[in-house]
This record gives sequence, C-alpha cells and structure tokens, in this order.
Amino acid sequence: PRKILVDTDPGGDDIFALLWLQSLAKQGLAEIVAITTVDGNVRAKYTFNAASKILSVCGFPEVEIGRGVPFHEQEVEDAAYIHGADGMGNLSPTLPEPIQQFETARYADEILIEKLNESPGEITLVTLAPLTNLAAAERKQPGILKQAKEIVMMAGAFNCPGNVTPHAEFNIAYNSEAANVVFNSRQDLIVLPMDVTMQLIFTELMALDVYQTQPENPIAKFIFSLTQFMKKTAMAYKETQGQKGFIVHDAVTLAYLFYPETLLLRRAQVSVETQGKYTRGKTLLDNRHLPKNQPNAFVALQVDAVNLLAVLAEDLKRLLS
Ligand code: BDR
Ligand code: CA
Repeated sequence: PRKILVDTDPGGDDIFALLWLQSLAKQGLAEIVAITTVDGNVRAKYTFNAASKILSVCGFPEVEIGRGVPFHEQEVEDAAYIHGADGMGNLSPTLPEPIQQFETARYADEILIEKLNESPGEITLVTLAPLTNLAAAERKQPGILKQAKEIVMMAGAFNCPGNVTPHAEFNIAYNSEAANVVFNSRQDLIVLPMDVTMQLIFTELMALDVYQTQPENPIAKFIFSLTQFMKKTAMAYKETQGQKGFIVHDAVTLAYLFYPETLLLRRAQVSVETQGKYTRGKTLLDNRHLPKNQPNAFVALQVDAVNLLAVLAEDLKRLLS
C-alpha cells in the first residue's frame, strides 16, 4: 500500500477526501501514516476535531492527528459560511466524540518532520489546505519536504477565476508566504487546481445512491446530510451551474493517486504572487519549454469528471460495506 500523510482543514470537501482515503485503506491500497490539521476553512481546533471524528467513526481511531501550527495573519476570511461553524456542516453532534484531543495533540510540523525523517522517499504528502504546516516544517528543517516521495496538492487557479478573490484560490490566498515556501521546495510538485476541481460536482443524487446501499449505516447518513448542507451554500454562491450538489475540490488528490487516468497533467513552472495589491495569492503558470522556464510542477488542466465522480461514489459504497 501507498504510505500517505494528509494535511487538511475540514471542510466538507476535505471530509470527502478523508472518507475516500479510508475506503482505499480498507481495500489495502493505502496506509494512512498520519493526518495533520491546520487553520483554514475553520480554526485549527475545529479542523482537528472534524478530522479526529471522521477517522474514529470510520474505524481508524489509532491514526495520529496533528494540530495546526498557529497562524493568525491569514490574508482572507475563513470559510465557516460554506462548511458550517464546525467545518462539517454543523453535523459534529451526530458523530461520537473522538478519542484524540486537540489540547494534548502534537503539532503538525513535528509530526511531518518525524515521519519524513523516519521514512525518506517513502511517504506521499497530500495537501488539502493552506500550506502553513508544510512551510513551518521546511523552515525548521530546510530540505525536509524533499524527503517526501511526492507532494500532491489541491491548490491554485490558473486559467479560471479564483474563489476568494477574482485571481486567488483559498489554499494559496490564506497564507501565500507559506505557499511560496512550498512551491520553492522541489521540482516535481503535483498541482491540482480549481481549473479541474470546479468540474467535480458531487450531486444530491450521487449522495442518495451511496446512502441507499446502506441506509442504516451512520456514515451513509452522514454523507447524505453533509451533501445536503454543502449543496445549499454552493448553490447560493452559484458554484455548481444550477446543479444540486457541491464541489468536492480536495477529492481530486486521491483521484490523481489512485485513478490517474482521470487527469491530464502538464510540466510547468508555477509561481505564487505574494505582493500584488490585486493579485496576492494568485498562482502563475509558465508552461514554455526548457530552457526558458525552470519547471517545479506537474499541473492538471484537464479532468474526466464523469469517471472521477463515479469511482468516488463506488469507493464510498465500499467504505460502508
Ligand atoms: C479549497 O479551499 C477550501 O475551502 C476547500 O476545502 C479546498 O481545499 C478550494 O479552494
Ligand atoms: Ca480543504
């Protein structure tokens, strides 16, 4: 199985990625090394609790959850208005209390550094959130991010508008300095931007289909209720072209790793704008060929959304069975 460490800020779409990962782990395809959480969609304490609950309820209570490196200078508002105050569609009370506690948890950068030093070249880092934790680890031990087997990121917006400003995507805009550190850390980042994720609309009907396979299962109910909650804001903000569903941005990272035929990537140089008055947090793509640019990434610009959503739904059903 592929060893995976996820850095996340649940978040409805983060939760879908975590559910998908756990299904893949149950199928023997993935091993979850740890989950680190961070300030982003909601504050670090809530993202920690959400991740902790989701891992416990799906049968992975022993996976260590890290708490976010403190960060209070975020450049944009959080997204509680989209994901609910608890980051999980206000459904937190419907799930059992987790075993791990925020107050006693280790910080994310410590876990990242420890795990990457222990198994150099073996761990896939999956990032679903602002890059505060990864940048903190890299600042503490320069070169540590090169010890990951690969870094697969939901981040950026290139040939499409951003979601927090006309130019910037949330995970970059929230802490653009941290993003810049990560984009300078290696030459082979896997970048899955809004250009592809905006096509990933997980609909109410898909959720119903999953739910109906195991209507008594609490996770099935949770998936359906979370989709209902997320749908409301997604539709209010006109993100889904009128479709009754929401965008599962972060799930794209698992698609890249386990169903790579659903994405087409292109070698490119990505830079992060950390200064611009109007463009701070924007990701810029130079895809001219060498020697004009210095590629640091593979960027997805095309996706087979129909098949990606179909395999996601199938794997969610496998999680329930
Ligand atoms: C990203 O921002 C967050 O709100 C989502 O969870 C996703 O990681 C999309 O821009
Ligand atoms: Ca996220």
